[in-house]
Formats: sequence, C-alpha cells, structure tokens
Amino acid sequence: MSAVVLVGAQWGDEGKGKVTDFLAKKADVICRYQGGNNAGHTVVVGDKTYKLHLIPSGILYPGKSCIIGNGVVLDPLVLFKELEYLQQNNIESDALKISANAHLIMPYHRLLDELQEEKRGEFKIGTTKRGIGPCYMDKVSRLGIRVIDIMDAEEFKEILERNLEEKNFFLNRIYGHKGFDFNEMYETYLDYGQKMQPYLVDCSLFINKAYNDGKDILFEGAQGTLLDVDHGTYPFVTSSNPTSGGAAIGAGIGPTKIKGVLGVVKAYTTRVGEGPFPTELKDSIGEQLLKAGQEFGTTTGRARRCGWFDAIILRYSVRINGISSLAVTKLDVLDGLDTIKICVGYKYKGEMLKEFPQSIKKLSSCEPVYETLPGWKQVTSQINEYKKLPPNAKRYIERIEELVKVKVNIVSTGPGREQTMVLDKIF
Ligand code: GDP
Ligand code: IMO
Ligand code: MG
Repeated sequence: MSAVVLVGAQWGDEGKGKVTDFLAKKADVICRYQGGNNAGHTVVVGDKTYKLHLIPSGILYPGKSCIIGNGVVLDPLVLFKELEYLQQNNIESDALKISANAHLIMPYHRLLDELQEEKRGEFKIGTTKRGIGPCYMDKVSRLGIRVIDIMDAEEFKEILERNLEEKNFFLNRIYGHKGFDFNEMYETYLDYGQKMQPYLVDCSLFINKAYNDGKDILFEGAQGTLLDVDHGTYPFVTSSNPTSGGAAIGAGIGPTKIKGVLGVVKAYTTRVGEGPFPTELKDSIGEQLLKAGQEFGTTTGRARRCGWFDAIILRYSVRINGISSLAVTKLDVLDGLDTIKICVGYKYKGEMLKEFPQSIKKLSSCEPVYETLPGWKQVTSQINEYKKLPPNAKRYIERIEELVKVKVNIVSTGPGREQTMVLDKIF
C-alpha cells in the first residue's frame, strides 16, 4: 500500500503524462488533484498518440480507477468531449470517478479569461484561455459552482442566478459585453449534471478507502512547480498548486499517507507563455531543441520556449515538493549535441546567488552560470537499459543527481512505453 505524488519539476510539459501512464501499470488508482484542461498530457501507446486534458492518464490501462479530484476545475464540455474521444478509440472509461466537490468551469470563466488577457496587453500572462484563473477566483471568493451544486435543480437555480447577476453586471460595465442568458445556461448545466451523476464520488472517502485496502495510489500532477500560484514565478503562473502539497488538499488525503514524491524533469528546460526563463536559448541550439523535442503545446499548439537544463530550478523544486526521486525525460533530444550545458548558478549584479530568488524582477536579471559537459552523439531512443546508455549520457544523468542530491529512478528516451528505463522502483 502506498501513495506517491508525481509532480512536474519545471514549467510543465515535462512528460508527466508519459510517466504517469508508465507507472499506471502498477498503480491501482490514478488521481488528478489540481488544474483543469489547461493541462495537455500526451501518452503514446504503440503507434497511437493520446492527448488528455482532464481525465487522468491512467485511463489507458484497463481496469484502473481514475479519479478527478476535488482540487480540479472541471469544464463539462471538455469532459464529455474527452469521454467521446476515448470511446472512439475503444478505451474503457467506466472506471472514471469525479469528485462531487470539484468546481465547474462555466462559459463566463472562459470568456473572462480571454477578455482579461486581452486587457492586460503587454502584461499578459499567456494563459491557455480555458477559464482556469476565473474559475479558481470564484472558488476562493466563495461564489463557485461545484459538481454537486448542479445535481439539485432548485439549489442550482439560486446559485446560478446570483452568479449571473454579478457576472453580467461586470461583463457589461468593464467589457461592454452583453452577458449570458440564464435559461440556456441553466438547462445546459442541469443536463451536464444528469450525465455526470454516475461518475460522482466523495474523492477523499474513495482515496482513503483505497489506501486502507492496500491499493497503490498515484497522484498525477498537472502543470509544474514554477507555475504554482504560491511557489512559482508569480504572476506568470497558473491559479492552483501543482506542487506535492496540492495533492493532499486536492484529493482529501493526509500528508502522512504520502510515501514519496516523484519529480518529472526534462533533460533541458521549456516554458509556454510569458515570464522569466534564465536559461532560455534564442539561438540555433534553442531551435534545435524545439525541433528535436517537438516542443509545441499539447493544449494550445504554441511553440514552447527552450533552454538548457537548470539545476537551480530543480534544486528549488526538490525543496518545495520534497522530491524523493526523479524521472528524467527526453534525454534523446540531446543526442545530436557536441556539448551540453547545465546551469549551476545564477549571477545577480556580480554576485552568485545561493538560492532561487523570490523576486521576479531579480530573477529576470539573473545570468545563468554554466558548466559544460561533453555530448554523446549517439542515438539513445532504442536503448532500454541504463547501463547500455553512452558513458557521457550516464555522466549527464549522474551530474544532475549530484547537483540536486536526489536519485534518478526513471530515464526516458522516447515517447513510447518501451522507451523507459527503470533504475529503481517507485512503488
Ligand atoms: P506533460 O504535460 O508533462 O504530460 O507533457 P506533454 O505531453 O505536454 O509534453 C511532453 C511531450 O514529450 C509529449 O509529446 C510526449 O509524447 C513527449 N515525450 C515524453 N517523454 C519523451 C522522451 O523521453 N523523449 C521524447 N523524444 N519525447 C518524449
Ligand atoms: P501540463 O499539465 C505548460 C501555463 C500557461 C500560462 C500559465 C497560466 O500540460 O504541463 P492558465 O491557463 O493555467 O491560467 O495559464 O500557465 N500553463 C502550462 N504550461 N504546461 C501546462 O500543463 C500548463 N498549464 C498552464 O501557458 O503561462
Ligand atoms: Mg503538457
């Protein structure tokens, strides 16, 4: 029996979907605990590529319980589309469970996300425009609508009336938008409620029972540590807590039950959206990483910004999440390089910083200090045993371990399940 949290250790898109799918073989329950369909998790099984935004990546293994936790913000439109997509691909989704306490993304959340971004102009965050921020805003301001609220027609009527009154006033005054019609939204969401009814559970009860029954539980984080609303590069962050502590809150499990935290980290760094990125490469090497790594957003299709591996960021991530082991992905993307750099320090106004700075202004002015390692100039995507990796590739992995003082348990050299090496077991 154990519970493990899988977190993104950088700015998202580290390959969490792939690693979750890989570990789902052994896990009994896979739970998403935060975020929403701003996430885009890619899983490659044989010659098929699946892109999941809301449903846990464990769904691709038959018979696994997959649960959307209370900490997730759920867009029913996306949920039904994703269920349909799975059905079209003959993937069973009967074992899906949805927390009754998850908050719902409403049409006005999507619209507000778009309008707010437009209004920010050059100070935009570069959100996915999926309504994530506005939905979490309503949750915290105690105006939100939860899955359970649309199960009761009378109660929902009252809540939606209150919400629309406020939203329409705001949309009108600030953005000159005509607002939304009550009846249409009311009927649509009541219908969603009917369709969601068979999936509903008390997430905390379900997870804790599974734990007490000796099941292995995997918490699948979305986004990444540096996008965390508390610990990320604020304000260029998402509106939830992707870090490991978020799993306890977003699923209703006590932290004492969590046995370990697996940090998923790319062998280099990427970021989508705005905000500081010390090791960003705006040269031909950056382009090479973009091309070789196929770094285009799973959700929005935007080109990801690319740069060297940053050990300062990973060390920070290890501290914030209590990472106990690492999965290094996309090592194969570095195959063609003569030399590879690792950022081992930040220089700020001539001084070497010891820790990741809290001020975004300071971070934006930090100059990365690099260590250069020899490349391996050898294809690694067919290798499935760690000891068979080129010596310089192993040296690279071992240098990461040394710099952050955490063991690497998994190395990935391709998107497929078989392109995964296990150095040490997670469960
Ligand atoms: P996530 O959001 O963390 O799940 O990551 P994404 O799915 O958004 O982006 C990771 C991308 O890299 C996907 O297209 C994966 O199929 C792919 N990928 C994962 N691991 C590897 C790897 O080891 N090598 C290569 N070349 N691609 C990988
Ligand atoms: P996965 O789970 C990468 C980024 C957006 C933007 C910021 C805020 O696939 O790793 P939001 O729509 O959440 O309000 O946008 O966060 N972002 C992601 N970047 N991967 C993700 O998810 C992301 N989800 C949000 O680009 O900069
Ligand atoms: Mg992604």
